[in-house]
Amino acid sequence: VDAFAQLISSADPAMVIVTAALGDERAGCLIGFHAQSSIEPERYAVWLSKANHTFRVAQHATHLGVHFLAADQHDLAEHFGTRTGDEVDKFADVEHEDGVEGVPLLVACTNRFVARRTAMLDEGGDHVCVVCEPLVVEADGAFVPLRLGDVKDLQAGHRAEERHRPPTERSADRA
Ligand SMILES: Cc1cc2nc3c(=O)[nH]c(=O)nc-3n(C[C@H](O)[C@H](O)[C@H](O)COP(=O)(O)O)c2cc1C
Repeated sequence: VDAFAQLISSADPAMVIVTAALGDERAGCLIGFHAQSSIEPERYAVWLSKANHTFRVAQHATHLGVHFLAADQHDLAEHFGTRTGDEVDKFADVEHEDGVEGVPLLVACTNRFVARRTAMLDEGGDHVCVVCEPLVVEADGAFVPLRLGDVKDLQAGHRAEERHRPPTERSADRA
């Protein structure tokens, strides 16, 4: 087994769904790359794949929604992790509400926050680091997270090496 893959699968990160909106265009995807990245000031970093619709919307959005999934929410993980907003509206059949700054929030996720983007780092890889300041945080008590090991059956809607042509499409005229 590849040593790096073994470390990551043993660490077994929790899965979250990141959402963003630009006008009436909503986006959201399942991610495993995310972490608190500063204590003071409070910061949270998420890494978005350049292949994803969510990345293209998030590039133009000032705020993101970060939703922590519980162990029994495999269905939501599948919905947001295996389909792409390039082809379907993932929010059409998922209950959601408007958070601050119009960020779409998933009603089924009661552990979540809306954050303001403070920085972005593209070091040339297939994911871009987006650093955020959590603004409105909701916690519904302790929960058992849905982990990477629980979603091994899912196949991502976009492979990390895919690139969109043109790079922005629907987002472009709203920038
Ligand atoms: C287990 C798993 C982990 C994933 N981790 C990430 C991640 O950390 N960052 C990311 O941008 N996409 C990640 N993805 C991929 C997206 O969730 C997936 O490609 C999604 O369909 C993209 O939707 P979109 O094009 O509507 O944004 C992951 C997918 C799976 C199944």
